[in-house]
Amino acid sequence: MHYVFGGAGDHPRPFRALVAGGGTGDATVMLAQHLADCGVDSEVAYVDVSEASRAIAEARAHTRGLTNVRFQTMSLLDLPDSGLGPFDYIDCCGVLHHLDDPAAGLAALVRVLADDGGLGMMLYGELGRTGVYPMQQMVSMLNPDGPAPERLDTARRLLRTLPDTNWLKRNPFVRAHVEQGDAGLYDLLLHARDRAYRVPEIADLCGDAGLRITAFVEPALYDPATYVSDPRLAARLDSLPWLERCAFAELIAGSLQTHVFYAVRSTNPVAPPEPGDPSVVPRLRDSEGAALAGMEPGSTVKATVSGVTVRRPLPPLAAAIIKRIDSRRTVAEIQADIAATNPHLDGEAFRKQFVDLYTALNGLGWMHLARAT
Ligand SMILES: C[S@@+](CC[C@H](N)C(=O)[O-])C[C@H]1O[C@@H](n2cnc3c(N)ncnc32)[C@H](O)[C@@H]1O
Repeated sequence: MHYVFGGAGDHPRPFRALVAGGGTGDATVMLAQHLADCGVDSEVAYVDVSEASRAIAEARAHTRGLTNVRFQTMSLLDLPDSGLGPFDYIDCCGVLHHLDDPAAGLAALVRVLADDGGLGMMLYGELGRTGVYPMQQMVSMLNPDGPAPERLDTARRLLRTLPDTNWLKRNPFVRAHVEQGDAGLYDLLLHARDRAYRVPEIADLCGDAGLRITAFVEPALYDPATYVSDPRLAARLDSLPWLERCAFAELIAGSLQTHVFYAVRSTNPVAPPEPGDPSVVPRLRDSEGAALAGMEPGSTVKATVSGVTVRRPLPPLAAAIIKRIDSRRTVAEIQADIAATNPHLDGEAFRKQFVDLYTALNGLGWMHLARAT
């Protein structure tokens, strides 16, 4: 709602979501469950070419008693002529980079996107996957078309042989082949087809499809301020357009293995809600809300995401504000409540502190904003 619908809390019609390449059901189950929990009139369409994955996804939805999911076994490329859609929200995570022609896949999705709808996507990140593609190439040179167990054996033997100079061996962020058994190793090194992207390539892919990116998440990863404190460099970076700042952040981080982002039609002027707007309603992500509520004044938030350690000092009023966030009160109401016991509270100072708090917490995906309903 924050990144695609400008924080809108309600929806003018039944909410229709598509999970394109739904796999074993993570996004389908999550979306369908949240929509059901919120009592939203909704339907989630799951589409995948794999019968085996669909069976797992269906069983998961069944276990939860979800009745708002429709399963289809089909290619997302066939969506435009399927009679499905238009969709308010399309989730397509980890799918387009496996297609022969990712642009054709994205074009098919855009054909079934509602005019005011949006997409949430994940594509592999090139720099964070440093070392993966030379390994894929070597495995394929050694064993181009053997059966899967043999190719897995080839890959394991090769991994044991790698010299210390090898980029995969030197990349501490890629761990799937070590930590996720045969499935992780197969997905990383033996996949029939995958490619990775940098930020400008994603911007081009989206631009060519008639889309505009509204956010990369988590935002702190794509904010040069996370990495650069030198004042001269920071001032120069501040002057760059947003997408260039994101591209710079990816280059300097070096560890981003995936890019998760939201996009809407280029013609859709929607923007995430502004933290400086006193009428917005702040919300904390469930998992962080309780931990943050116990924090001392003057704390710093610190979290490691995608290998990047993000540290942000919190403003003096952080604890007082967080204690009052209940997903219903507006920023203005929170300010008034604090002012009731703090008569010298300066309105401008409060607003600045709220924006700083929002920037720190939203940067990690811990705070979002909604419009009051
Ligand atoms: C890496 S999985 C991602 C699954 C899911 N989106 C997730 O994030 O857990 C990629 C999925 O895309 C599916 N897929 C590949 N090509 C497809 C196509 N042309 N149409 C629909 N699904 C496709 C695969 O079967 C697989 O389930």
